[in-house]
Amino acid sequence: MSVQIKNLNKSYYLDTQKIEILKDLNVEIKTSEVVAILGSSGSGKSTLLSLLAGLDFCDSGEIRFNQIDIARLNQKELTAFRAEHIGIVFQNYYLVSHLTALENVLLPLEIQNKMTLPEEAINLLQKVGLGHRLHHAPGELSGGESQRLAIARALISKPQLLLADEPSGSLDTETGKKVMDLFFEQVRANGTTTVLVTHDRGIADRCDRVLKLENGQLCDI
Ligand SMILES: Nc1ncnc2c1ncn2[C@@H]1O[C@H](COP(=O)(O)OP(=O)(O)OP(=O)(O)O)[C@@H](O)[C@H]1O
Ligand SMILES: [Mg+2]
Repeated sequence: MSVQIKNLNKSYYLDTQKIEILKDLNVEIKTSEVVAILGSSGSGKSTLLSLLAGLDFCDSGEIRFNQIDIARLNQKELTAFRAEHIGIVFQNYYLVSHLTALENVLLPLEIQNKMTLPEEAINLLQKVGLGHRLHHAPGELSGGESQRLAIARALISKPQLLLADEPSGSLDTETGKKVMDLFFEQVRANGTTTVLVTHDRGIADRCDRVLKLENGQLCDI
């Protein structure tokens, strides 16, 4: 899936003070391209991913997936589109608290009515090192374990677009390396268009393109 962002503007209001986060941001991402986004804390990286995921709204501008403007979708269509095509690994994980780890991974497939064997989900959970935590609820997992669960859940349905916000941010060096190896292996094998926010230059250098978010705009570096 290709992504076109045109003249995107997003600001927040603090009382009456307008804080501009994204300012006439433009970028085109090709199908299967893996793009890293770097930028200092508070520069607006997570804000940009939320807009791409359709979880927040821009002030003005366009976001197109395969040339289709997502602003033209109603809430129901947007939710269906997200469930079918977009994988999300966000900083707050968005895990379903009353389901076990295994059920959380199976959920995207159930939503899409894709028949699958639990073995596939178990296999993926084993690969992220959670084979011994299949029946734990998210509240019973550590921060890094929750992060790995969120990654497994995002990868299982082979989404056309993967949005990942510092997916290895809570992991130690060794676990982070293993999980990111799996991440890159899967997105490359599936041709998943990927937007990966990271503070780690080593991870960014494994991507096709590295962009920096600065002063509300993205530039190639
Ligand atoms: N709901 C909100 N209301 C007001 N300001 C907000 C809101 N959400 C984010 N901001 C502000 O927007 C700016 C960008 O936030 P964002 O979370 O996108 O940064 P980031 O680049 O992801 O930072 P980090 O690297 O620390 O995760 C921050 O200064 C933040 O305070
Ligand atoms: Mg962030």
